[in-house]
Amino acid sequence: MTRTRVASVDSCRICGADNWHTFLDLGNVPLANSFVTDESEPEETFPLVLMSCRVCRLASLTHVVHPKDLYDHYFYVSSPSRTMQDHMAGLARRFQRILGLGASSLVVEIGSNNGDQLAKFRPYGCSLLGIDPAQNITEQARARGIDTRTDFFTSAVATKVRAERGPADLILARHVIAHVDDVRDLVAGVRDLLAPDGIFAIEVPYLKELVSRRAFDTVYHEHLSYFLVGTLRRLLEDAGLRMIDVDEFDVHGGSILVTATLPSSRHRTNTERIEGKIRAEETAGLTSDETYDRFGAVVDRLRESLRTCLRELVEAGYVVAGYGASAKGVTWLTTSGIPRGWLAFCSDTTPEKQGTLLPGLGVRVISPEEAREQRPDVYVMLAWNYRDEILAKEADFLNSGGRFLIPIPEPHLVGAKESAALIGAAS
Ligand code: TMP
Ligand code: ZN
Repeated sequence: MTRTRVASVDSCRICGADNWHTFLDLGNVPLANSFVTDESEPEETFPLVLMSCRVCRLASLTHVVHPKDLYDHYFYVSSPSRTMQDHMAGLARRFQRILGLGASSLVVEIGSNNGDQLAKFRPYGCSLLGIDPAQNITEQARARGIDTRTDFFTSAVATKVRAERGPADLILARHVIAHVDDVRDLVAGVRDLLAPDGIFAIEVPYLKELVSRRAFDTVYHEHLSYFLVGTLRRLLEDAGLRMIDVDEFDVHGGSILVTATLPSSRHRTNTERIEGKIRAEETAGLTSDETYDRFGAVVDRLRESLRTCLRELVEAGYVVAGYGASAKGVTWLTTSGIPRGWLAFCSDTTPEKQGTLLPGLGVRVISPEEAREQRPDVYVMLAWNYRDEILAKEADFLNSGGRFLIPIPEPHLVGAKESAALIGAAS
């Protein structure tokens, strides 16, 4: 087998400083999306450790796995879940409204995956271009008629795209910049490609929410960076862009959508909202080492209680299985020392994942139909970010006495009664 390449991080990829505070050590674990197809291959593990830049408060992994080893063949397919599809459709409507997108507009998406987000712009008749490094998934996007380039987005690629297609009215980077080591080069490329009144939109998990929801399982090797609004503003301004607004969305465990333009654009800056968010980050202590240390201690306790909770269920004789083979699920299972054998199987809707084994756990991934026949007693909700949608979908399982173990922010069991209360409260 070929060995995966890994490098340690020295200077901050946002501000260039080398002044780090290490606050969370999750140990050595396999890559969360490296679903195993060949059981005889030994699995490689890599340190999963988080540190905070004392200058710009970027949180970063201490080690970076070479991107080609992560993304050439990729298992993550943008979720067909209703929650995510509604969110993407909402974004398309929002930008159509702000920019008046039409036949002469160009929308570019960085990290376009299978083209789900770009497809939401089809009703407006604009030109669409996706850019994504995963061979297998960009083929799927092209097969559905979304023009897609198999590549990492760099400033060099941006220059070529501009020469071929002209400036972009909208550049989307949803859940991608956390994966990119040379993010300054990416943003420089965006600046070069953007039309005079074009908008650049970044969506990332919000570090403030990660800390308050204890969503430590969103920390995995693909996510090199964890952002505050203040850190993103610095990144954008250093590249000669102006942050114009920020919004929060309850997707992927709590995310922010930040928009930016060229400084001379016609768009007005929502200074009040941006500065309000940055002030709230300071008030929440996210610019001081102690807050991160406290978070590290909370996570260590949480991992322990996840293990205890699962052990008690298994020892009581329940058949326990995973629900949703998400990278975050793999992360908390492997970093909480859950042994092989505690989960009977893992159900997942993604065809690419079915038939494989969960990294580090040797648990077989099967389809929801097959899982239903196995009649587990408890499902561990690994894709907890879709909690309400999953509870609603699995009403039959719950009504026949089945329960879900929800890991975050504290492990708790949800049966039919609790589920009704949760879904009721959400709608
Ligand atoms: P994500 O949180 O990274 O989008 O991954 C969620 C995983 O969970 C993905 O592999 C699809 C899977 N999933 C299910 O199996 N059933 C579901 O109902 C949902 C919403 C997701
Ligand atoms: Zn920094």
